[in-house]
Amino acid sequence: MLRRPRRNRKSPVIRAMVEETTLSVKDLIFPVFVIGGEHKKIEVKSMPGIYRYSPDLLLEEIASCVELGISTFAPFPAIDEARKDPLAKESYNPEGLYPSIIRKIKANFPEVCLMTDVAMDPYSSDGHDGIVKEGKILNDETLEVLGKMALVQAQAGSDILGPSDMMDGRVGHIRQVLDEAGYTEVSIMSYTAKYASGFYGPFRDALDSAPKAGDKKTYQMNPANRLEALIEADLDVEEGADILMVKPAIPYLDVIRLLKDHYPLPIAAYHVSGEYAMIKAAAQQGWLNGTQCMVESLLSIKRAGASTILTYFAKEYAALRL
Ligand code: PBG
Repeated sequence: MLRRPRRNRKSPVIRAMVEETTLSVKDLIFPVFVIGGEHKKIEVKSMPGIYRYSPDLLLEEIASCVELGISTFAPFPAIDEARKDPLAKESYNPEGLYPSIIRKIKANFPEVCLMTDVAMDPYSSDGHDGIVKEGKILNDETLEVLGKMALVQAQAGSDILGPSDMMDGRVGHIRQVLDEAGYTEVSIMSYTAKYASGFYGPFRDALDSAPKAGDKKTYQMNPANRLEALIEADLDVEEGADILMVKPAIPYLDVIRLLKDHYPLPIAAYHVSGEYAMIKAAAQQGWLNGTQCMVESLLSIKRAGASTILTYFAKEYAALRL
């Protein structure tokens, strides 16, 4: 035999030498959950190892992650039910939990990069990403709210805004609001192809943000569709997005590759809460090796074409110090 592919696998050194894809802590963004109060650290039931932290403890958690080499965080706020309303007004309160934790993180860790979430659902009494009227999600009216919260987050010091709502035209609207206010340097990582997925369940537990009625299928994408991701990506590019994201990750590796092959912009992927929960649950049962499956999952997302991965495994991966 002239060709023996096993020669390139014969030792750890050679395997490393011919490795096509590498994964680094620098590729990872760590989503973290913040709640009001003090000295609170509450585990998310469906996400073993992931907690909702009050601001004081979140700062400690970030310090320990920075120590491990993590440089970018994506905080999400769990808002008191009493502060939620149909118009999500708390989302643009400059003294609210979210802008204040953004300011605190930037003050304590100026070198840390913050990607913040632009969407109504954590603040909406309806649990939707848009204003609900007679069971319908209003698009253009929602853009106004998104623009206001985007501005508040930029003023608080956010580096990257992540619109996760899937309203039409939101990237362009947010870009315009930011530019008019002089925030031309704030980036937008668009949730370009965000699918209506069952894998968001544990995240909605973490934020108590599940829709009170209906589902998100009139704004999030149909899992059956691939080409539609190109339409979303075209729009996001035209509207000024800096980075395109696909979400969830593993069930949509083909979509990650599709966007990678069609667009020169960096591609990110969100390895979501349910993808984390599946591996954790099976590992707890002793049904699979959690660490090996974590690394393999993250590597496969990178191999599919994502240069950046949002993952709840960020700290656990960093702790391996590979
Ligand atoms: C909503 C939002 C969701 C996630 C991030 N932002 C859930 C949803 O659309 O209902 C999910 C993230 C995850 O599951 O890890 N704006």
